[in-house]
Amino acid sequence: MKNFVSVKDVANIDDLVQKAIAYKAQPLKDLSMGTHKRIGLLFLNPSLRTRLSTQVAAANLGMEAIVFNMDKEGWKLELEDGAIMDGTTVEHIKDAAPILGSYFDILCVRTFPSLLNRDEDYNEVLLSRLIEYAGLPIISLESATLHPLQSLTDIITITETFKEKRRPKIVLTWAPHIKPIPQCVSNSFAEWINAWGAADLTITHPAGYELAEQYTNGATITHDQQAALQDADFVYVKNWSSYNDYGKVLTEDPSWMLTNKHLALTNNAKVMHCLPVRRNVELSDEILDGPSSLVSKQGANRVWAAQAVISELLNK
Ligand code: CP
Repeated sequence: MKNFVSVKDVANIDDLVQKAIAYKAQPLKDLSMGTHKRIGLLFLNPSLRTRLSTQVAAANLGMEAIVFNMDKEGWKLELEDGAIMDGTTVEHIKDAAPILGSYFDILCVRTFPSLLNRDEDYNEVLLSRLIEYAGLPIISLESATLHPLQSLTDIITITETFKEKRRPKIVLTWAPHIKPIPQCVSNSFAEWINAWGAADLTITHPAGYELAEQYTNGATITHDQQAALQDADFVYVKNWSSYNDYGKVLTEDPSWMLTNKHLALTNNAKVMHCLPVRRNVELSDEILDGPSSLVSKQGANRVWAAQAVISELLNK
């Protein structure tokens, strides 16, 4: 593995999952692996789980982690080649990236889409420029279009939970929200489950919320949430804004919020969400506080996903 920005960077998903599960059993077994090594965590938007779990994972491998809230404390970066920098941007990515590369052994970055210009967002300019100019392994802590550490965590959690000798049925369902939310968690979840190949994926959402086909190809897609939920073993709940009418909220229909009534249609499904979650908008209290919820387990598993990925890059 040279970088970790999408599932395409992973040679074998199950091997990486098993590595994470081994770290969960013995968190400090590779404590000396990262001695005298440094990992930089650049954040351009808020985070609870990603930020702290990556720091804990790095500490478990003996690394020093340095967090930089780049959006608040750094110079505003210019990303465009040939730009005449007489506006608000202060430093070009071509100048900043090699410096960052010289300070660290691994560099992590979290960006967010504007949700205003689809081409710009889906071109992942910041991430690709960092890979081009920083000269060291890059980990995505969530990008404009994908959230690979979250998706790896999700597969770890499913693997730990599902013990039957058959393929689980996993349903990714759209949920209401009060504002436009990126498609990255949903894109990434679909991409990883399809690449994993060990489960059957159904995606359900209201009309107009189709995700980019490059991630969903291979999944069953339906606007009928009730039909989708039939016999599900896992229900992954997530809001996303429209991909085709880019960044728009087309409906806030509360009937899409998962309740115990929806859950009764499933095969006693476990319910997942990446968090943070808007209670009683995206997901009901009765589910989040009930026995079906895996959300705390998912959040806790973020450490082991990050530790497995950092360890792979250190070994390289
Ligand atoms: N799921 C997730 O990425 O959480 P944070 O935004 O808190 O990092």
